Order: sequence, then C-alpha cells, then structure tokens
Amino acid sequence: MHEQKLATERFDLNVERQFWNDWIGEWKTVDSSSVRRAGAVVAQLRSLNLENPRILEVGCGSGWLAAELSRFGSVTGVDLADEPIAAAKAKYPHVDFIAGDFQTVDLPAVHFDLAVSVEVISVFHDPSLFVNRVASLLRSGGYLILTCPHKFVWDRTDFVRRSHGEIPLNWLNMGELKRLLRNHFSLLHTETMMPAGNLGVLRLINSYRLNGLIKKVVPEPSIVGIKERIGLGKTLLVVAQKRV
Ligand SMILES: C[S@@+](CC[C@H](N)C(=O)[O-])C[C@H]1O[C@@H](n2cnc3c(N)ncnc32)[C@H](O)[C@@H]1O
Repeated sequence: MHEQKLATERFDLNVERQFWNDWIGEWKTVDSSSVRRAGAVVAQLRSLNLENPRILEVGCGSGWLAAELSRFGSVTGVDLADEPIAAAKAKYPHVDFIAGDFQTVDLPAVHFDLAVSVEVISVFHDPSLFVNRVASLLRSGGYLILTCPHKFVWDRTDFVRRSHGEIPLNWLNMGELKRLLRNHFSLLHTETMMPAGNLGVLRLINSYRLNGLIKKVVPEPSIVGIKERIGLGKTLLVVAQKRV
C-alpha cells in the first residue's frame, strides 16, 4: 500500500498555478469519468429544486461544467489556473470566471445558494480550510455538492499517479469527508460511483474472471450498482446543507 503525504503547509502558489495551467492544458477532451461525475452533480442539483440559484463552482478548471451549471442559475467559477480561466472567459462569456486562490480570492460572503466542487478538495493542503471557506460563502441553508477521489479505492489501484509533485493528494474516505463537513453542514446524500481498483481485496472483487461469471446471472449495470451501493466506487459524492 502506498503512503500519502498529508501536507499541512502551503507551498509556493506560483508553482501550483503553473502545475495546474499545464495539467489542464494537457486535457483536450473531457474524459468519461468527468462526464459521469458531472451527470451525478447535475442530477443532485435538479433534485434540490432551486429557483435560479447563485452557484459557485470551486476549482472549475477549463469551465465546461460551470457552463453546464449556468442552465440552472447564475454561475461564478473560481480556479487558481489563470490560463484556462482566460480561455473560459472567452468561450463562456455568460459565466463569471475568476482566476485566483480560493482561500483568498475576493468573493461575496454568505451569498451563494449552492457550491459545487468536483475533484478539488483533495488537492488543498488543508481540506478543513477549504470547507470553512465554502461555508463562509454560502447563505444559511445553502447547499454543497462535492465529489472527491475515494481513498480506499485509489489506495488499491496500481495504475494511478501517486504524486503531483508539490501538490497534495489528500484522498479521503467517506468517514473522513463526513467529519470534515460536520462542523458547518448537515449531510443530505452520500454515494460512491464508478467501481474500480485492482489491488488487495479489490483485485478479487473486480477480477474479470469473477465478474465474468457473475455477469452470466446478474446484468452488468446491476453489478456496478451493487458495488457503488456498498461503497466501492472510486469517486465519493456528497450533498450537504449549511446549518442555519
Ligand atoms: C483535479 S483538478 C479538477 C478540475 C475540475 N473540477 C475537473 O473536475 O475537471 C483540481 C482543480 O483545482 C484547482 N485548484 C487547485 N488549488 C486551487 C486553489 N488554491 N484555488 C482555486 N483552485 C484551485 C486546479 O487549478 C484544478 O483546476
């Protein structure tokens, strides 16, 4: 099993910015996992039945999801990486994009009805500061829809990138995520999605041979659904509400 570095100190923000500019610049298309996560986020947003919400997307990257979210309300997208944000401003002029460090960038307090953040909390040096900041920007009763990599699964996956240089990879398990949120939020919904992993117990659970046999009696989507329900998805998703 690989050790994760839980970094608590901030590193050079310029190094981080450059890293993310390069990283986002490398991704020319949106991959299938991102599409699946976005679908789940939008499904949860719909179920909240918000009327023209003020939406904040934290760590919006190239801005494609922020553009999708703008079908539901006004959207502010924030990201440290200034190059994709400049491109997003030109591509989606109806979305308010801001380049800057989420911890310090100028945003209105107690303002947003919904915060969305996809695969971002784990790259913050201190995830609790991330949660505090999100809570400070939401109105009372405002919502958070958040996804992040599931530590249990990524720890048992051999092809994953283990390091982003100086960028932390603070993968979380559901219990840790719940503990991080509980000071400010009540949890409304949790799920895991996209079963994965090929080491340890997951080597057996996800083996082609075993799944090939099970598929003869249980349809594949049902197998995936069962694994997701028992918490074996590679992505954690939570919907939470800021306490009044
Ligand atoms: C793993 S990527 C996820 C991007 C996007 N949400 C997606 O799902 O494709 C993490 C994102 O967080 C952004 N980020 C990292 N540190 C940040 C900070 N301090 N403030 C704002 N954004 C940050 C990065 O620039 C990057 O776009």
